Amino acid sequence: MYIMGINSVYHESSACLMKDGVVIAAVEEERFNRKKHGKELRLDNPHELPLQSISYCLKEAGITLQNVDHIGYSINPARRLDTYKIKDYVDIDNWGSEGGETEFYLNTLKVEELIKEMGFCGEFHFIDHHICHGASAFFASPYEEAAVVVIDGIGETATTLVGYGKRSDHQIVRLDENLYPASLGFLWEKLCMFLGFSEYDACKVMGLSSYVAVDPLVLSQLRSCVAIGKHGKFTTDPEILRYRQDDFTGLEKLFGIPRRQAEEPVTDIHTKIAAALQAVTEEILVSMVNHAYDLTGSTNLCMAGGVALNCVANGIAFHQSGFQNLYIQPAANDAGTAMGAAYTLWNIHLANYQPPQVTTAYLGPQFTDEAIEATLVEYGLTFEKITNIEERVAQLLADQNIVGWFQGRMEFGPRALGNRSLLADPRVLGNKERMNRAVKKREDFRPFAPSVLDEDAEQFFIIPKKSDVSDYMLITYKVKSNVMDKIPAVVHVDGTSRIQTVKKSTNPRYYSLIEHFKGITGVPMLLNTSFNDNEPIVCNPEGAIRTFLNANIDYLAIGDYLIKNISLHQGGA
Ligand SMILES: [Fe+2]
Repeated sequence: MYIMGINSVYHESSACLMKDGVVIAAVEEERFNRKKHGKELRLDNPHELPLQSISYCLKEAGITLQNVDHIGYSINPARRLDTYKIKDYVDIDNWGSEGGETEFYLNTLKVEELIKEMGFCGEFHFIDHHICHGASAFFASPYEEAAVVVIDGIGETATTLVGYGKRSDHQIVRLDENLYPASLGFLWEKLCMFLGFSEYDACKVMGLSSYVAVDPLVLSQLRSCVAIGKHGKFTTDPEILRYRQDDFTGLEKLFGIPRRQAEEPVTDIHTKIAAALQAVTEEILVSMVNHAYDLTGSTNLCMAGGVALNCVANGIAFHQSGFQNLYIQPAANDAGTAMGAAYTLWNIHLANYQPPQVTTAYLGPQFTDEAIEATLVEYGLTFEKITNIEERVAQLLADQNIVGWFQGRMEFGPRALGNRSLLADPRVLGNKERMNRAVKKREDFRPFAPSVLDEDAEQFFIIPKKSDVSDYMLITYKVKSNVMDKIPAVVHVDGTSRIQTVKKSTNPRYYSLIEHFKGITGVPMLLNTSFNDNEPIVCNPEGAIRTFLNANIDYLAIGDYLIKNISLHQGGA
C-alpha cells in the first residue's frame, strides 16, 4: 500500500511517500524550485502544490499517482477557518480577518480536486496540523510509547500541543494546548524581523543570543509582553506584538529603539534582545517539557514544530526534565508534516501497528556515477575518478582545503548531515572566518557545527544524557575545557557545539571520511555546514557544480569524482 503526505499549507512545501508503513522518499520543494521555503506564505496559495517533490517521490518508487491509495494533507481547513473569531489585530482581508480566512479556507479545499485532476483516485484526507507534526516525530522514533510536544507558529488555532503517543493504541492523545495568539513561533518571527533579519532567521538570532549574558532590564521588558504561567502555559501580548500586521511600533516603544534595518550594524541592544528571547524560550520549553513528563509518566520524549529546531532550548529542556530519551525528526519544521500526514494515515487512521524503527534523514534524490560524469563533462570540468575518495578528501581537509561533499541521497530537513555538506578542518579557527566570509557570505557571529564520530563524542563534549537527536544536529553540548583549543573552529562563543554524531550504520561513507581524517590528525571530527551559498541546499550535480564555481570552495568531491577549483589553485593536485 502506498500513502503520500503533502504539505503546502503555509510554507516549507514538501512531499513524502510511504510503502507499507515505511517511508521511502521525502523531500522539500525548495530544493527543486530553488525558492527558499518552497513558496511564499500567502492566503491565495495553499493549493500551490509541491509538484516536483510529488513527482520525485513517485519516480523513486516507480509508480504514478494512480497507484497511491491514500493522500494526507497537513491541515484541517474547517478548524483553521475559526481563527478569524480570535481577538487579534488584523488587516482587512488578510490573515485573521473573516474575508482572508475564508479565502484561505476555500483555496485549501482546492487541494483535493487538484490532486484528483492529476490522476489520484484513492482516498484524500485533511489531517490536523499538530497531529501531523507529532506523528512525524513519534512514529519516526525508536519508541513504543512517548510524550509528544509540538511548538510552532500556529497549526489551526493551537500553537502548541502536549500529547501522548502509543503505537499499540494507534493514536496520539491530545492532552494540552496553547491557543493563538500565544505563539512562540510567531514571537520568534516578529523579533527576528524587529532585529533586522528575515522571519526565517531564528537560527541566526539563536546564534547571536550567546554573545551576552541575559540583561535583567531587557528580559523584564520582553517579559512584559510574554507572560509565562505554570505547566507550559504562556501568553503573548497581541497589542504590542501585532503578529498579523507590519507594525513594529509596540516593540519600538517597549525596547526604546527603532526596528533595525538589514544594512545597519548589530549592536549590544540587539544582542541583548536576542539573549532575552532565547531565555524566555528556554523557560517556556522547560515548563512544557516537564508538564509533558508529569502528564504522561513516559521516559521518552518526541518533539516537533519549528521551535523544536532550537537546539539550545531542546538541550536545556531535555536535561532539566525526567525524560531519559529524546527524539526529534530532522525535518521538525512544517516540511516534516508531510511525513507526519503519511504516518498518521498508516498508524492512526488505518490502525496498522508499526514496530519502532528510526527513520533516516537520507530520503531525497541521489545520482549515479554516469549522471554525475555527464554533468561534469557538460560543464567542461577536469575531474579525477578515485576509488577511495574518503582517503584523498581527508588529506585535502587536513591540508586546509574547503571541500564540497556531495554524496548519496539528499537529507530531509534543514540540516546538511554529510551528504550535501561543505567541510573544513575544525582545528584551525581561520576556517570559521573563511567559511563565513568567503564561502557562505554570512555574518561573522554565526557558528559552525562539528560532525563527530559517535563513539568519540564523549571525549570532546559533556553529554549528560545521550540522545538520538545529536545525529541530526538538534541539540547542543558543552565542549570539554581540556579539548576546546583543539577544535576552535566549531566551538561557539559560549563554549558549546551543536554536534552531529556520525554512525557507521547510517552514513558509512561520511563515517569513513571522518575516520580517515582522525587517522591523519588525531581529531575525529570535521566542520560541517550546508552546501549552499545564500540559497536552498544544493540538490543535484548541476547545483553542486554551480555553487562550487561561484563560492570560494577549493575542491568538489561528488560521488567518486574529485574536481579542483582551478581559479583558486593553479598547477597540479
Ligand atoms: Fe507547523
